[in-house]
Amino acid sequence: MSQSTAGREATPRHYLMCRPTYFDVTYAINPWMDPGKPVDTDLAVEQWDALRRLYLEHGHTVDVIDPVEGLPDMVFAANGATVVDDRVLVARFRHAERAAEAAAYHEWFISRGYPRVHTAEYVNEAEGDYMVLGDRILAGTGFRTDPRAHAELARALGREVVTLTLVDPRFYHLDTALAVLSDTEVMYYPGAFSARSLDVLRALYPDAVLVGEEDAEVFGLNAVSDGLRVFLPDTATRLAGQLRDRGFRPVGVDLSELLKAGGSVKCCTLEIRHRTGA
Ligand code: ARG
Repeated sequence: MSQSTAGREATPRHYLMCRPTYFDVTYAINPWMDPGKPVDTDLAVEQWDALRRLYLEHGHTVDVIDPVEGLPDMVFAANGATVVDDRVLVARFRHAERAAEAAAYHEWFISRGYPRVHTAEYVNEAEGDYMVLGDRILAGTGFRTDPRAHAELARALGREVVTLTLVDPRFYHLDTALAVLSDTEVMYYPGAFSARSLDVLRALYPDAVLVGEEDAEVFGLNAVSDGLRVFLPDTATRLAGQLRDRGFRPVGVDLSELLKAGGSVKCCTLEIRHRTGA
């Protein structure tokens, strides 16, 4: 049954991205990473730039942060900070290999004049594990973000926080297992969550788009929605059909090089949410 796109509306977004100039896979901190496999950094840059241009073509604003040599995962900007109402909670990374990224993001927001930039006490990998929708933040834990960080998040950003526990190491960040489609709608792969968290999700989002393992495995859930278009890996074909049936417009993106580090569309995209109506 197809619904029309009538009623769905895109709203212009503000994104922060980081060019993968120094992208490589030199260590393995998730099951997708294999340092023995060659990486084509130029191709990664090309694919990343295509995503950046796609956002611009669709009317979104994209800022870029300078990449830092020696930080090959810095392209995954979603992990740098969580921004709500212009308030910034900077990440604290679980692994030493990525720790220095936090300072670069901190510095970027300070230099842009954001008045409230919080340094996190507990390990949190920002939008990798924190999904903002409506007045709520869905917060993942299990592999990266410390569950104690969830209360810190609620305090720093002044939003209700709902904890979700991830159980499958392939889906180590919440943004590999669940995506926000609108202020009230999500899509997720049920196999990535603990039984209790599934109960929570079913209660909060009874009409969620349930995604199959084949689409989840190609990072179909690592998607960015502007309310109408859903930017997602072009290999998630069944999921694209499910989204169309809901009135969304899937836009397929090829980020195959970045997938070698266990990241895709959403990982490359930090959304800066501004204060409205104030
Ligand atoms: N190699 C990176 C890591 O394991 C990938 C991060 C992907 N980012 C994300 N938001 N899921 O930390």
